[in-house]
Amino acid sequence: LRVAVLVSGGGTNLQAIIDAVKDGTITNTELVAVISNNANAYALTRAKENGIEALCISPKDYADRADFHKALLEKINELKVDLIVLAGYLVKIPEEMVHQYSHRIINIHPSLIPSFCGVGYYGLHVHEAVLEKGVKVTGATVHYVDEGMDTGEIIAQKPVMVEEGDTPEILQKRVMEQAEWKLLPAAINMIANQK
Ligand code: GRF
Repeated sequence: LRVAVLVSGGGTNLQAIIDAVKDGTITNTELVAVISNNANAYALTRAKENGIEALCISPKDYADRADFHKALLEKINELKVDLIVLAGYLVKIPEEMVHQYSHRIINIHPSLIPSFCGVGYYGLHVHEAVLEKGVKVTGATVHYVDEGMDTGEIIAQKPVMVEEGDTPEILQKRVMEQAEWKLLPAAINMIANQK
């Protein structure tokens, strides 16, 4: 399975995927490229350190959103990927790309969708809202990407307990370690080995 990973930040989910390919948790998969909208994303460093093509395609480099969308889609098509993985990617996927890669784009979201998702619910904000609401169980979700934000068909979820004294940072780390970094590699492996 030829996979492109789209990132915006630290790339800990990307690292989990890289490690899973190395240790055999993910089979029949080639990480073809990592693409970030953010030139400074540490995720690009992680890609380079692992011999994976690291590209920055940023809206800032294009006259308008349409030109950015065109450039992103052209690069994705050129890479001839079978699966696009959004791993902490904070830019909306162009509708044209969702249509061309229907059921071939997956995303990891750090909550149990449909709770705490949609516009504004990204990064620490998700965990701030979870603690604010006082829910006792949170978790992460891997889902197919459709035209909406965090609205596509759910592939898998993993619960994570909220604990006394949790701060957003502590909770985020637990959700990443116990849920995200397990769910995403498992989903890629499932897709890579489905008949
Ligand atoms: C984190 O908030 C994570 O929960 C979400 O995307 C953000 C960045 O993750 N999936 P990463 O470290 O860049 O993979």
